[in-house]
Amino acid sequence: MAFELPKLPYAYDALEPHIDARTMEIHHTKHHAGYTNNLNNAIKGTDLEGKSIEDILTGLDMSNAAVRNNGGGFYNHNLFWEILNPEEKGRLSGPLKEAIEAEYMSVDAFKESFSKAAATRFGSGWAWLCVHKGGKVEICSTPNQDNPLMPGVGCGGTPILALDVWEHAYYLNYQNRRPDYIEAFFKVVNWNEVERRYEAAK
Ligand SMILES: [Fe+2]
Repeated sequence: MAFELPKLPYAYDALEPHIDARTMEIHHTKHHAGYTNNLNNAIKGTDLEGKSIEDILTGLDMSNAAVRNNGGGFYNHNLFWEILNPEEKGRLSGPLKEAIEAEYMSVDAFKESFSKAAATRFGSGWAWLCVHKGGKVEICSTPNQDNPLMPGVGCGGTPILALDVWEHAYYLNYQNRRPDYIEAFFKVVNWNEVERRYEAAK
C-alpha cells in the first residue's frame, strides 16, 4: 500500500486570516503531495515498502536522503494539518497544561520558548513540542524535514505540536515576517487534538 496524501480536516480558507487559503492550497496540493509521491517512489521495491511511516522514520538510515527528506515531509505535514483548526481549538488544559507549566513555569513562557525555537531556526525547518514516556514535555527544533522520530537529531520523544517554518508555509501572506506567522499560528492551534496526542503518547 502506497502512502496517500490525506485530505485536510477543514477547508483551505478555514484558517483565514491567520493562514491564507492560497498558501494552504499550494502547501497541501503541491508541497505535501510532492513529499508523498517522492516518498512512495523512494521506498518502492525496497524493504521499507509496507512499513508504517513511524517505523520507517524511527529506524531510518540518515544517509538515505530521499526517505529522510520525503518521509519526514510526509509525516510532518500530516501532523501539522491535524493540530490546526480554528473551530475546535479548545484551551490548553488538564495534564498537558500541568506538564507544560512544570517544565516552562507558565503557558505564556512556554509559548515564548516555542516561538523562539521557531523564529531562530535558520533557513527551513520545524519547531516541535514532544512528549517523553512518563509525560515530560520538551521543545525543540529540527532543520529541513527532519523530525524527532528520526535517530540522532538531538530532539526526541513523540511530537504532539508542530510548526512548519519553511517559507512555503507563510511567504505569500507574511513575506519575511516569520515572527508574525508564528504569532498567528497560536491563534489556530487545536489544543484538543494536541492534548489527545499527549495522552496517547505519554
Ligand atoms: Fe511545509
